[in-house]
Amino acid sequence: MDAAMGVVFVSGSPGETRAFGAELARLLPDGAVVALVGELGAGKTVLVQGAAEGIGAGRGEGDDEGVTSPTFVLVKHHVGDSGRVLIHVDAYRLRGPSDLADIGSDDFLGREGIAFVEWADRVEAALPRPYLLVRVRHETTRSRRIELEGVGESSQALLEAAAKAAARSGAT
Ligand SMILES: Nc1ncnc2c1ncn2[C@@H]1O[C@H](COP(=O)(O)OP(=O)(O)OP(=O)(O)O)[C@@H](O)[C@H]1O
Ligand SMILES: [Mg+2]
Repeated sequence: MDAAMGVVFVSGSPGETRAFGAELARLLPDGAVVALVGELGAGKTVLVQGAAEGIGAGRGEGDDEGVTSPTFVLVKHHVGDSGRVLIHVDAYRLRGPSDLADIGSDDFLGREGIAFVEWADRVEAALPRPYLLVRVRHETTRSRRIELEGVGESSQALLEAAAKAAARSGAT
């Protein structure tokens, strides 16, 4: 079994999800891949906005648009204030794994910077291993159940970093 034991916590507000994203970006090493899974409006983009803030790429200079869902632009790069790169992919419009490979994902996923992939379940087979799986589920209007899992060999370190990020974010 490659999948490490999962971790589950509850984010009580968009702010907590952002804080989790920020801690996650600080704690994950470059080359890490985060697969985000969850229905429309679950909070995947909110988490990535927090991650961008975590590396100092939130809404500041050098990043004129801030983080929005890259639904029309499939891949966006954000550069943090110490030069760290965050790659944000939205697979919503992709039909399957080969679509992701076709846009050259082998050249950027799991290589430079940290990568966050929204709608990762649509392109799962094309994701490099190991990766961190983050499932976001609606609980109430303001709360989300967030499930973390490490997928692939050597995914334990990713899961441990994510568990630490959850503990630091103030979510329960
Ligand atoms: N605890 C929470 N965490 C994250 N978002 C929350 C939370 N509670 C409420 N929200 C709201 O849910 C919405 C999440 O929107 P977001 O764009 O992040 O979803 P998404 O998963 O990226 O959807 P899509 O699949 O359409 O891209 C926002 O309006 C946010 O304010
Ligand atoms: Mg989104």
